[in-house]
Amino acid sequence: MKKIAVFTSGGDAPGMNACIRAVVRTAVYHKLEVYGIGRGYNGMIQGEIFRLFSHSVSNIIQKGGTILKSARCPEFQTPEGRKRAYDQISKFGIDGIVAIGGNGTFTGAQIFHEEYGIPVIGAPGTIDNDLYGTDYTIGYDTAVNTALDAIDKIRDTADSHERVFFVEVMGRDSGYIAMPCAIGGGAEMVMIPETITSMPEVIETLQQGWRRSKTSFIIIVAEGDDEGGATEIAAKVKQALPQMDAKVTIIGHVQRGGSPTAADRLLSSQMGMAAVEGLMAGRTNEMVGVINGEIVYTPFHDTITKKKPISESFLKLVQILSN
Ligand code: F6P
Repeated sequence: MKKIAVFTSGGDAPGMNACIRAVVRTAVYHKLEVYGIGRGYNGMIQGEIFRLFSHSVSNIIQKGGTILKSARCPEFQTPEGRKRAYDQISKFGIDGIVAIGGNGTFTGAQIFHEEYGIPVIGAPGTIDNDLYGTDYTIGYDTAVNTALDAIDKIRDTADSHERVFFVEVMGRDSGYIAMPCAIGGGAEMVMIPETITSMPEVIETLQQGWRRSKTSFIIIVAEGDDEGGATEIAAKVKQALPQMDAKVTIIGHVQRGGSPTAADRLLSSQMGMAAVEGLMAGRTNEMVGVINGEIVYTPFHDTITKKKPISESFLKLVQILSN
């Protein structure tokens, strides 16, 4: 292997830059030529491919977002799009790729490898932490800390005005962001897609708390919860309990930005290095992950098809500590 390329794709995540830096510096260390691909699969199709050097990634480890830009790319889902991408990759003589992204990115990478045989290693870049094959994904720790900071502030005003706040956090179909936010933010309840929490249960919890002289409540709602988003849930509560002053906060894309935490910088650096060394060792179609502090490689097929279960003990924690 002589020339590798790196790109970021899907939703951006704090720590992607630290991972790009680790990929570039590891490649340079091993005397490989390294290229950046701009704007994910779009840039691959358009030939937005440029040489990166050690100095190209100076002063980025602490920055949120991704210097390579990111995008979702419907054209890469078509055989014609992938053929155009392959033509560009061959033009530059690239013989290995590091893809930083989530399941959508890895699905594309797997098909691309099957069709054209280019080795690809993935690094899990998503705030959602919903990928099988790693304890944590790049950006998750930062996103949780950002959301928690907002929740602490909401708690202050909820308490002053004796209100119930429904706080919606990101996570797509997973409750991984919601769970530590609920535990760390001392929430009264958490609603996540992995478990069923019915509206009567929500109303009963609020009434019980009210009877015990609780005057403010925080309920964390994962955006993918079956009962709907925080706005819909709050509307149902207002109807059932009109005496309660129910408010909604959707934390939104602020969770995707900001300087990565120390944990995210470390994780991203470990993964970037392992991705390059994995490619050099002849690995392909695998995602690098960290499980119990150790680097592991998991086939894309498993990361795409297997569901990462949410810890039962976390659910128990919210239940017991919110009393
Ligand atoms: O996958 C990361 C994520 O932030 C999800 O939590 C969220 O559902 C989605 O991306 C939002 O995507 P977009 O930025 O395209 O609206």
